Amino acid sequence: MKPYNQLSAEELKVLHAELLEKYNEYKSRGLNLDMSRGKPAPSQLDLCMELLDVIGADGEYTTKNGTDIRNYGVLDGITEAKELFAPLLGVKPENVFVGGSSSLTLMYDAVCRAYTHGAYGSERPWCKEEKLKFLCPAPGYDRHFRITEHFGFELVTIPMVEGGPDMDAVEEAVKDPAVKGIWCVPKYSNPLGTTYSDETVKRMAALKPAAKDFRIFWDNAYAIHDLYEDKQDVLLDIMQECEKNGTQDMVYIFASTSKVTFPGAGVAVMGMSDNNMALMKKHAGVQAIGYDKINQLRHVKYFGSYDGMLEHMKKLGKALQPKFETVKNTLDKELKGLEIGRWNDPMGGYFVAFDSMDGCAKRIVALCSEAGVKMTGAGATFPYGKDPHDSNIRIAPSYPPVDELKTAMELFCLCVKLASVEKLMA
Ligand SMILES: Cc1ncc(COP(=O)(O)O)c(C=O)c1O
Repeated sequence: MKPYNQLSAEELKVLHAELLEKYNEYKSRGLNLDMSRGKPAPSQLDLCMELLDVIGADGEYTTKNGTDIRNYGVLDGITEAKELFAPLLGVKPENVFVGGSSSLTLMYDAVCRAYTHGAYGSERPWCKEEKLKFLCPAPGYDRHFRITEHFGFELVTIPMVEGGPDMDAVEEAVKDPAVKGIWCVPKYSNPLGTTYSDETVKRMAALKPAAKDFRIFWDNAYAIHDLYEDKQDVLLDIMQECEKNGTQDMVYIFASTSKVTFPGAGVAVMGMSDNNMALMKKHAGVQAIGYDKINQLRHVKYFGSYDGMLEHMKKLGKALQPKFETVKNTLDKELKGLEIGRWNDPMGGYFVAFDSMDGCAKRIVALCSEAGVKMTGAGATFPYGKDPHDSNIRIAPSYPPVDELKTAMELFCLCVKLASVEKLMA
């Protein structure tokens, strides 16, 4: 089949009729499939059930410092947990804050504290500023954007280019003192699967924002979520780069075990400079007496070490491989050469991003939905949920079993074809 944009009006009409017939056939099957959820499949969760048994088996509830994990105390996390997660964040154990189970909550709280009380280096709380802006590399993670929208920030879209956010645009934007921060998913980004290049990380760490309390929210949610052992993206250590520039107060680093052990019941961590850590403890100490140390020690005992965690991730990567390959193979087979879409081939993370012809994404998602396949809403990956090109669609392959995923992807490709032909006919 030649590229769709080279088809004559008559050829398009014939093709449209064929596609519509196939589509109606799918519709009559009453499918109920879901490619919207970036969550681990039950079979992945089964791989770490032993986590639930490691505490108490030996009757040992005490940390090496003598803390009884069943009781109150130790606001910033038990030493063993700080040591376990320090290499994940790329900071020293004393610069790790071990929070509850959600890194998103840590991010929300970091924005909230700066808003009500100011961040380290703030002249005043952010709520006292006349205007607040936040940089949102897009396509990006909708929940990040929603946090800053919730606090009344103006969301400034920064285009994602090869190697991460467009750093020329970032460097220009931070000259505005109203710009207080940037959202970053630096490895296998949600949804593009992009890993920031060394140059991007270096330029990020060397930023000289007009706002002295500007913060990089470095959400390394997919730091160790490689699909393959022999093909892995490597991300430069942001804290080391910041230290070279004397900008270590500018970055907050986040991660969690949501997609390592159990989402909602894992451990979330934050890495930061000494100054940020001191202020964080001051505020967090008002909010809580301490977090779930039983869960912290459970993770420590289960993994044994950071290397143990990496070993576990190999199993999860293997479980995800056939799913990502199903997505890629179906897209290649059905759409390659038609020039009606582009897609990425990430080496890790949880998503594949698809870009349709301009003005087709909403229609594709609607067609999928009508035929029983749920996708993430078109536009969700942009600030305010508005994709200026109406072209980006996030595919989440992790949850459905492979056979369901294959059917869902075949239908997705059919909907891409149908929406593209409709557009070309119009
Ligand atoms: C980039 C990113 N950050 C954070 C989260 C949520 O993390 P948590 O479960 O630790 O709150 C997700 C979940 O999909 C994500 O994609």
